[in-house]
Amino acid sequence: MKSVVRAPKSDAISEREEKNRALARRVCAQGIVLLKNEHAALPLTGGKVSLFGRGVRYTEAGGTGSGEVHPRTRVNVEQGFLNAGWQVCTGRWLDELDTLYAEAHRKWEEETDKLFSRPCFDFTRLMAEAQAHCFRAPYGGAIKEEDVQTDTAVYVLTRQAGEGGDRRDEEGDFLIAAEELEHLRRLKELFPKLVLVINSAGMIDLTFDEEIGADAIVYMVQGGMEGGNALADVLTGKENFCGKLADTWGRNYGQYPFANEYGSRNGDALHDIYKEGIFIGYKWFESAGFMPRYPFGYGLSYTQFRISDAQVSLLGGRAVVAAKVKNVGEKAGREVVQVYAALPKGSIVKEAQRLVAFAKTEELAPGAECEVRMLFELSVLASYFEGESRYKIEKGDYLLRVGNSSENLQTAAAIRFRETVTTELCKSAAKARMEIPDFPASALTESAEEPPVAEYTGGIVMRRNEYTYHPKFDQKTEDLYKALRARDKARLVVGAGYFGKTYNLTYGAVGKTTSKLLKKGIPNINMCDGPQGVNLTPRAADVGSKWFTMPVVPENLRHGLLKKLLALFSPKEKEGQAFRYQYCTQWPCETLVAQTWDCGLLYEMGRATGAELLETGVTLWLAPGMNLHRNPLCGRSFEYYSEDPLLTGKLAASLSQGVNSCGGIGVTYKHFVCNDREEERRRMSAEISERALREAHLKAFEIAVKEGNPKAVMTSYNRVNGAYVSNTRALCVDVLRCEWGFSGIVMTDWFATGKEAASAEECISSGNDLVMPGSGSVQRKILRAYRRGRIREADMACSCKLILRTILESAVYTDGRKE
Ligand code: BGC
Repeated sequence: MKSVVRAPKSDAISEREEKNRALARRVCAQGIVLLKNEHAALPLTGGKVSLFGRGVRYTEAGGTGSGEVHPRTRVNVEQGFLNAGWQVCTGRWLDELDTLYAEAHRKWEEETDKLFSRPCFDFTRLMAEAQAHCFRAPYGGAIKEEDVQTDTAVYVLTRQAGEGGDRRDEEGDFLIAAEELEHLRRLKELFPKLVLVINSAGMIDLTFDEEIGADAIVYMVQGGMEGGNALADVLTGKENFCGKLADTWGRNYGQYPFANEYGSRNGDALHDIYKEGIFIGYKWFESAGFMPRYPFGYGLSYTQFRISDAQVSLLGGRAVVAAKVKNVGEKAGREVVQVYAALPKGSIVKEAQRLVAFAKTEELAPGAECEVRMLFELSVLASYFEGESRYKIEKGDYLLRVGNSSENLQTAAAIRFRETVTTELCKSAAKARMEIPDFPASALTESAEEPPVAEYTGGIVMRRNEYTYHPKFDQKTEDLYKALRARDKARLVVGAGYFGKTYNLTYGAVGKTTSKLLKKGIPNINMCDGPQGVNLTPRAADVGSKWFTMPVVPENLRHGLLKKLLALFSPKEKEGQAFRYQYCTQWPCETLVAQTWDCGLLYEMGRATGAELLETGVTLWLAPGMNLHRNPLCGRSFEYYSEDPLLTGKLAASLSQGVNSCGGIGVTYKHFVCNDREEERRRMSAEISERALREAHLKAFEIAVKEGNPKAVMTSYNRVNGAYVSNTRALCVDVLRCEWGFSGIVMTDWFATGKEAASAEECISSGNDLVMPGSGSVQRKILRAYRRGRIREADMACSCKLILRTILESAVYTDGRKE
């Protein structure tokens, strides 16, 4: 078998690379949020800057684990300022940090090499251990008077987190470390002004700022490979800030819902009771009566905007909100207009308000004005009534409030429903095993205003779901399926990993469909990780169809035995060796991308990523991550967008449309559903009411599936109400396919089946089409179950044909190189 490798043989910087790098910088600058700016601390002036903090040189570009991406180069904060032509005045302090860092890293390598010297083939344990022992860089030495050469100090506080473990509500993580606090106190003494930059994919507790009183605070998040350049762009005022928070920043960890019951904090790591129900993020803060530090949707700019003349009109089952936005300040900038619906009291408790639409303006010059129009289906106002298994809009007035954060809003109009309207009839998808009482929410204080009323007079078409699924396939797919023996079918529904001879070969792909059916005209297609970009080996020795193509092992796993094994098995470089180069873009992490609130930009990112997928022969990108930011300690928050399902769903849909526009490639929404913590992610059960599941956690996927037409969905490791998601037909077929109309592939997460895990046979019976990546023994299990009728022919046929169709439609197949 001769393999087809598409990645370029030259390592010259391509036009695609340059174009995408420029886009990565733009996305980053548009997503960084200005939280505070007093005493005109920003923009910086004068061409000289004093940079402190370990994030200056050791800037975190993204999280760790399968979401790591390896670009050609990354720009740290110092380099960003140097590239902008600024002088960095703190060389002494930064060089000293380098010395401390090198020493600490050497020690840590020695310790971890010892720690990981025993063989361990349990990948999950390995990840959790690595996460628990990940490198904690030093904070840096004392700040001295000789370091003061400018008026303003910039301190970059940095945090790292990732797959396999959650963050901690401790010093050095969610809380500030003593050393960092000492630095900030000293800077406050020495410099007239202090700017704090937070380089972390998740929020931190800013209580210390009540003492320190930084003049400006900037939430940089983790900006990918262009983070340093983009930060310099906004801090120097070359670009204006236009990012808005995608999460509510509480005053402390305790303000988050049932904060001390998350994971093993209450002694039970195997169950998480979602007591907050639908009240996540701002919905929780508003209903529980907590004042956050910074509200959802908030972010400052170097200019000011006036949002006015908001008007609402109804078009049958839809509403259109129009508003004027004027730049009333002195610098060009962009504003995000947000529309929230305040829900009336009814027979069930509801959130005080929910985001229903948003739009970002183009850049407005000082004095310029524009009109934004936002359209939404009235069905977004509905709540799920569990006893009746239906969505209803209860009668009453729904106030539409328009503004630029969840707190800064003006009521524009009330949509009046004189009668309750049913919008969708469903069937129960996942009943809770225990009583989870609704959180006793208090609605927003009744408004005394009397806004104009838009009366609903009909137009919503009630959706009646049919729970049968019989997709149609073209003749070629049917013919290929007919030619398969039972054994071939078992091969087709079990994906492969990194080993084995491969026809379509992508170095660093994390999975593929089988290569064993090539003689039947069925080539393999490849999958690679995301979501911060296309996660592939940047430079790989060209080994053609040889059996070993290792994916990039996450950085904090490369120790001890694994380091030795990698050295032993990785293809050796020989003189005259040919290489393939796959320099892909490391985008900002998803949290930062979400802060752009810009669907158009996500579409552009999708197209730009699509070019890289086509260039490297990948068909399915294992991205975006779509779980909600339910608790700020989730280790993989950097791979997820927001606490809000509408924002998450809309952004993911735009990204998917962008990738789809390239043809023959697609995204994989993951992890379906409730994988919002890392601890015990393979065994834990989310104990959740069906209402919270549907209105919050599934909602993000629902919007993104209906609007984004993804090629694939990945089920999560965890259980929901006791049953593994990948073994729950009600979720994988009834909801995903019958209710939402999803027509692509459903695949499992990696190694999700086995002992104390989901059953591979049940995955296929429950609507997963691909078990990823499975061994020969998984294939045999599936074959046995199929032969004995425990996997029905209809299910096997459906899974095989969905895979075949995806292969036939793939870019690697259609470009004619299948033979
Ligand atoms: C992660 C997935 C990832 C897969 C392949 C799993 O551990 O949960 O998000 O796509 O590995 O790397």
